Amino acid sequence: MKIDFEKAVVEVTGPDGQVRSLPFASAEAFREVSKAWLRVGWDTKYVYGFTWLGRPIIQLPDDMIRLQEIIYRLKPDVIIETGIAHGGSLIYSASLCQLMGTGRVIGIDIEIRPHNRQAIEAHPLSKYIQMFEGSSIEPGLVQSVRNEIKPGESTIVLLDSCHTADHVLAELEAYSPMITPGSYIVAMDGIMQDVVGAPRTAPDWITNNPQTAVKEFLKTHPEFVLEEPLIPFNEGLVIDRVTYWPNAYLKRI
Ligand SMILES: C[S@@+](CC[C@H](N)C(=O)[O-])C[C@H]1O[C@@H](n2cnc3c(N)ncnc32)[C@H](O)[C@@H]1O
Repeated sequence: MKIDFEKAVVEVTGPDGQVRSLPFASAEAFREVSKAWLRVGWDTKYVYGFTWLGRPIIQLPDDMIRLQEIIYRLKPDVIIETGIAHGGSLIYSASLCQLMGTGRVIGIDIEIRPHNRQAIEAHPLSKYIQMFEGSSIEPGLVQSVRNEIKPGESTIVLLDSCHTADHVLAELEAYSPMITPGSYIVAMDGIMQDVVGAPRTAPDWITNNPQTAVKEFLKTHPEFVLEEPLIPFNEGLVIDRVTYWPNAYLKRI
């Protein structure tokens, strides 16, 4: 790919060796530049540079904005997230609950480090958050989470713990029954498949990733569809999400 600022075009070479010239003002040019930007962002650990209301959040900001659009539209009673780390994403969801005047958050992590637990519990939004420590696929823990959901409550589930295909598939099996119709279970970080060969990756990520789990899950779960979330406002030319979560949103129909 070559960016020519003078001509305002992006030049890409196709598999046939043909060079295509994409005008800056096109969805295709934006897609190509975004792909490169995501890869450079991976190598530079761009997503490890943000906080949400004081806690580190390991997410691409674009994904957070899109997620906010969905959460605001659905206003779920319970937002469940596997993978707490520093707690930024739990605080993020809790802040939406406070602003919307509805909802609460359940977080699960195999290891909640004492300094992270302390910071989350001391946070002004902690009253919205309940945490469970243990493997997200351990049946006893899954049952404890289920017990917290009252009959009739709506839920959204975000999977951001261990991103191997097997683990994500097991999480999809464990948490998908908790999803209410119209809502989503989100298999995050499917970008793994696109960054193989970059630093901090493994060759098997080409298949051992959340996107593989999603494909497997769909084979036996016709009650779910892979569906891009509705974009409520778009006066621009860009169609695709810039995302670490390609093919992630599974909607219960
Ligand atoms: C990518 S981080 C989560 C980032 C967080 N959601 C955020 O946005 O800031 C992944 C977390 O998953 C946790 N984890 C790894 N394996 C797990 C498992 N089997 N069950 C639950 N949590 C797990 C790790 O301890 C780590 O804190």
